[in-house]
Amino acid sequence: MFNNIYYKPLLFLLHLLVNQTNGLPVDTIFKFQGPLPPILPHEVHFGKGTIDLGGLEVKQVSISKTTAKRVWRTYEGGRDNMGFSIFEPINNLPANFSKLGFYAQPNNQKLFGWILVARDVSGSNLRPPVDYIEVWNTASLGIRQDGHAYFWQPVCLKGYKPVGVFVTTSSRKPPMKKKSISCVRSELTEQSEADTLVWGFKGINVVNSRPIQRGTQATGVYTGTFSFQQLNSSPLPYLFCLKNTKLNMSSNMPSKAQTRTLFKTYSPLIYFHPKEIFLPSSVHWFFANGALLYKKGNESNPIPIQPNGTNLPQGGSNDDLFWLDYPLDKTATEKVKRGDLRNTKVYLNIKPMFGGTFTDIAVWIFCPFNGNAHLKFLFIKSLSLGQIGEHVGDWEHVTLRISNFNGKLWRVYFSQHSGGTLVDACDLEYVEGGNKPVIYSSLHGHAMFSKPGLVLQGKRRYGIRNDMARSDKWLDCGKGYEVIGGPWGVVEPAWTSYFRKWGPRVGYKIDKPIKSFAKKILPMFVRKRLRNIIRKIPYEMLGEDGPTGPKAKMTWTGDDKYS
Ligand SMILES: *[C@@H]1O[C@H](CO)[C@@H](O)[C@H](O)[C@H]1NC(C)=O
Ligand SMILES: *[C@@H]1O[C@H](CO)[C@@H](O)[C@H](O)[C@H]1NC(C)=O
Ligand SMILES: *[C@@H]1O[C@H](CO)[C@@H](O)[C@H](O)[C@H]1NC(C)=O
Ligand SMILES: *[C@@H]1O[C@H](CO)[C@@H](O)[C@H](O)[C@H]1NC(C)=O
Repeated sequence: MFNNIYYKPLLFLLHLLVNQTNGLPVDTIFKFQGPLPPILPHEVHFGKGTIDLGGLEVKQVSISKTTAKRVWRTYEGGRDNMGFSIFEPINNLPANFSKLGFYAQPNNQKLFGWILVARDVSGSNLRPPVDYIEVWNTASLGIRQDGHAYFWQPVCLKGYKPVGVFVTTSSRKPPMKKKSISCVRSELTEQSEADTLVWGFKGINVVNSRPIQRGTQATGVYTGTFSFQQLNSSPLPYLFCLKNTKLNMSSNMPSKAQTRTLFKTYSPLIYFHPKEIFLPSSVHWFFANGALLYKKGNESNPIPIQPNGTNLPQGGSNDDLFWLDYPLDKTATEKVKRGDLRNTKVYLNIKPMFGGTFTDIAVWIFCPFNGNAHLKFLFIKSLSLGQIGEHVGDWEHVTLRISNFNGKLWRVYFSQHSGGTLVDACDLEYVEGGNKPVIYSSLHGHAMFSKPGLVLQGKRRYGIRNDMARSDKWLDCGKGYEVIGGPWGVVEPAWTSYFRKWGPRVGYKIDKPIKSFAKKILPMFVRKRLRNIIRKIPYEMLGEDGPTGPKAKMTWTGDDKYS
């Protein structure tokens, strides 16, 4: 219809028009739909807005039009090719609090984020920079942008470290004193590294920075600042995060009652696929319905597990000496495999994160059976891999990461086979009118996703299928849960300290599905390729080794994202 010459400018005009009328997603502030969890009156430190890190008091400033000024943005590159924006926390900074860096976020997200500002308690823990070095600018990038951005790394006095960069829109150095960002005394800082990607363009990555050491005992504090890396070079500029020098990481955590209130607000709703038949159950149900404990060398004498799990071996390590399996009776096995969705319980592990400034609520879900994997390969939409992927006893989890400053949900981690992804709260789907994230469990494999649809794990055209969709099979995690780990001396059920496998080791014959299904249809060279693909699927992804329980995993005390 259009001549090509007119088409492009027209498209551009249309783009401008749409941007003018609707704006970019970042021009709207993200708001939770439902009420935020109330901070209970007896909370001593949790939800008080300020946290004492020892020598520094910090506040979490939510980035909004009233608290921050947009300094610069580009309209290209990065997520959805929408560019990103940089904000300076400036307006209404609480009295005597200083900024430590600037905030950056992709334009394809609603404005949602925060940054820490700090107050010097001793008088010598914050210092203005003595100089700034220009580390990068966007003048020669050739992208659509609001002017040009200049990035400045603070040069700090000896014994002090920079936490963020300063951004200007002219090549003049930033102010050295009053409006500057502060350097922090070295003893109150820790090393940081690249976290999530904000924007990437022609070899430059703008990244959030996070502490290198993360876990329930780690002291590094996430500051909300950003940094950037040039490909194939070390992080530049070299920035630090804060450190909680108070010894008790749990002192700002929510109380037991407050945790219940938080979970009531944010407990996820998990959808299983319409075709899913292998649904979750409580651990108690699995044991009470005939699960057996096997011991190496005495395989012919498996022992029924007591419903409270007290006869499981305690402690030790995953040494192949013991494993669990289904009842010997076939009918009983078929029943157990299908789980008990209506009476399912989820299991919560509550842990301090980022030097006790955040609370992770890890929500563990148990499925007695993990169904087989399906492959998308060339023109074959879904090739059943026979027994590959099947295993007894499947533990999956999602983690809610909640601010100890204000009780707001920040991110959710989704476990997906051997890895997982972090999703910002502004990018989640919620149960209508509330703050409960909607989660999709993949068909058979039960990997957790934030969106329905198909996700392929593998190369572009082929990979293991993860199929997610809504159905009438769903689990409201808030309805039945048990806290199995937390900072207040939780009475752990006996099965948490069973560190061996929840299913037997499975020996797959990878050639079998290829032979039985593909022999007649696929030419030899395609079969060969298929075999190579299947061989390359990591063992952990298919759970071949028989999975271990929540407490045997690194994430019990560590961060979910350790790589
Ligand atoms: C800010 O610091 C000054 C000087 O130390 C002090 O007099 C003032 O009370 C402080 N203001 C607040 C709100 O803490
Ligand atoms: C740490 O703080 C928590 C919460 O205030 C408290 O229950 C716990 O006993 C403290 N632990 C230590 C070792 O002081
Ligand atoms: C094998 O298990 C049975 C039943 O629990 C037990 O009586 C027997 O002593 C075990 N044998 C060995 C060699 O452990
Ligand atoms: C566990 O159950 C067994 C029998 O089912 C019982 O004898 C035992 O006292 C229970 N233990 C606990 C700690 O509840």
